Amino acid sequence: MTRPESIENRWDILYRDYPEVYEAFSKTPYHPTLYEQLPAIIDLHDKVIADVGSGTGASSLALASFARHVFGIEYETAMLQQAQAKTQNETSSRVTWLQGDARALPLATNAVDLVTGVTLALYPPEQYRAFIREGLRVARGPVVFIGIPPNWYGGELYALIEDTEKVDDEIDRIFLEEFSFAYHDLFTEQDYGTVEHIVSTYGFIFGKKTIEYLRREQKTTIRWKFRVYWRA
Ligand SMILES: C[S@@+](CC[C@H](N)C(=O)[O-])C[C@H]1O[C@@H](n2cnc3c(N)ncnc32)[C@H](O)[C@@H]1O
Repeated sequence: MTRPESIENRWDILYRDYPEVYEAFSKTPYHPTLYEQLPAIIDLHDKVIADVGSGTGASSLALASFARHVFGIEYETAMLQQAQAKTQNETSSRVTWLQGDARALPLATNAVDLVTGVTLALYPPEQYRAFIREGLRVARGPVVFIGIPPNWYGGELYALIEDTEKVDDEIDRIFLEEFSFAYHDLFTEQDYGTVEHIVSTYGFIFGKKTIEYLRREQKTTIRWKFRVYWRA
């Protein structure tokens, strides 16, 4: 398989064929991290959490540093394998990895204290309705979704990413209007260190126009806005 310069926002291809690029992208440091900001909004301490769309494991492992136990639930085998291959330590001993679908969670009714979906990417957006219903079934407490609000897909370079269907308006409407979630916005900056690293991760995902811009401006950081949606 010849490797393209960019997958042009085809996240399905990224998760299936390039989990190591997703891993390098998600591991790039954020200042401050979501997990430094989240406990001020949602009580995570000593909770049993189902983290849906756990990917290569970053969100589940971060949540496990607060929680009593985390079930990391992921659909794609390649992503789940990357998570399972991570070093075992005290925090990871509190995580159980499960293969499963956000729309039919492999857990009993009221099995956990809270359900999280940290940039859980469902497509088409109508699938969030099934995730929300499943979350409300499985959680005794809040259902929490952390996503990207309208006009922030790809972070501050949103305006350069025009060749993709932008679904964030619809997702925002489903959570806020249809299901009456509350929300709180968080800002963070991701520091890639070098132009080469940002081009091969962020640029590989978000497209050739971002690559041209990053090279021209010698830019190595991206500012993001995340929206925490929650319903008790
Ligand atoms: C952007 S990643 C987020 C990973 C992780 N939560 C993190 O913060 O590092 C989104 C993940 O959602 C997964 N996903 C997509 N559809 C899913 C579904 N129906 N059920 C479970 N996971 C799904 C993808 O395979 C991908 O691993």
